Amino acid sequence: ATILVLHGPNLNLLGEREPAIYGSTTLDDINRRLAALATEHGHHLLAMQSNAEYELIERIHDARHEGINFILINPAAFTHTSVALRDALAAVEIPFIEIHLSNTHAREPFREHSYFSDRAEGVICGFGAQGYEFGLQAAMSRLEQS
Ligand code: DQA
Repeated sequence: ATILVLHGPNLNLLGEREPAIYGSTTLDDINRRLAALATEHGHHLLAMQSNAEYELIERIHDARHEGINFILINPAAFTHTSVALRDALAAVEIPFIEIHLSNTHAREPFREHSYFSDRAEGVICGFGAQGYEFGLQAAMSRLEQS
């Protein structure tokens, strides 16, 4: 199956951005690990990061015609603001898992609300870069069940 990983704004700075909160692993490290894990299990992984809401929306629209079976998404700050990104995921009807590096519930109150969680297959937060691997494992076991 094909799995798409989407990274939202500022995640291109991972590794140098607030390392006490987000860790020292870079986005390239994360994507490489995920691609290897997917390949090991006979799946194919695509990854994309953007700081622009419309680019993420258009990437989700395109996923519809590319046979993408599952999405892993860290919407980053758009988690707390973007009805448009939520609507895009609902429109394409591709199952998705919401991932956050930090535990958003242990931070500022404005990070507690997500526009995605009620539509997600599941939510993983607080496990740093490893959370993406947990998400991929969950996605692969869902795909193998179906
Ligand atoms: C984040 C949490 C968000 O609140 C924040 O805006 C981010 C990253 C995380 O992965 O912990 O940019 O999604």
